[in-house]
Amino acid sequence: MTIRAYKGVLPTLAEGVYVDESSVLVGDIVLAKDVSIWPLVVARGDVNYIRIGARTNVQDGSVLHLSRPSNGKPEGSPLIIGEDVTVGHKVMLHGCTLGNRILIGMGAIVMDDVIVEDDVIIGAGSLVPPGKRLQSGYLYVGSPAKQARPLNDNEKAFLTESASNYVQLKNEYLAG
Ligand SMILES: CC(C)(COP(=O)(O)OP(=O)(O)OC[C@H]1O[C@@H](n2cnc3c(N)ncnc32)[C@H](O)[C@@H]1OP(=O)(O)O)[C@@H](O)C(=O)NCCC(=O)NCCS
Repeated sequence: MTIRAYKGVLPTLAEGVYVDESSVLVGDIVLAKDVSIWPLVVARGDVNYIRIGARTNVQDGSVLHLSRPSNGKPEGSPLIIGEDVTVGHKVMLHGCTLGNRILIGMGAIVMDDVIVEDDVIIGAGSLVPPGKRLQSGYLYVGSPAKQARPLNDNEKAFLTESASNYVQLKNEYLAG
């Protein structure tokens, strides 16, 4: 079954959400309106929680997890993703917080307690080490990811366009 409970808590899906039948969602996960989850995504909300904002898409083969509460960090590291975020193919998001209108390039890894502010692009294959804060309005690339340059107006516009393209695509899938 794609959508499974952990300790009696089931993922909750708002209106218009699309979840591919090959992906697996477990536990304390809340998907806001028009979120799309593409084939072979694994999202495990067991030892903490996952929240995904409206119109965000999580593309094929991505893995979403989090870190449990500990003595040093009683809240642990939940995974919180904002609105209109594009999570590219085969991305690893672990216990981080993403703002709105962000593109995470294919194959990127974003680790615990990273904060990505609004309107950021992370290049394909980048690695963002634990606890880093990525500043709004910039492109980051590399391993470890470094600030490359400010985003131009076309790139900023593309962030919303990419999210709305995926809303349209998931509507086509939902319509069969
Ligand atoms: C980073 C990115 C946004 C392109 O930025 P750009 O400024 O147009 O890149 P350019 O092609 O002009 O390249 C600029 C330099 O960065 C390098 N570069 C490009 N992408 C890079 C990446 N992901 N990581 C590291 N370096 C990268 C280029 O090789 C080039 O290096 P050079 O100056 O030594 O030749 C793009 O390559 C990318 O990674 N996009 C993500 C797309 C994606 O994964 N979408 C989600 C799935 S739909």
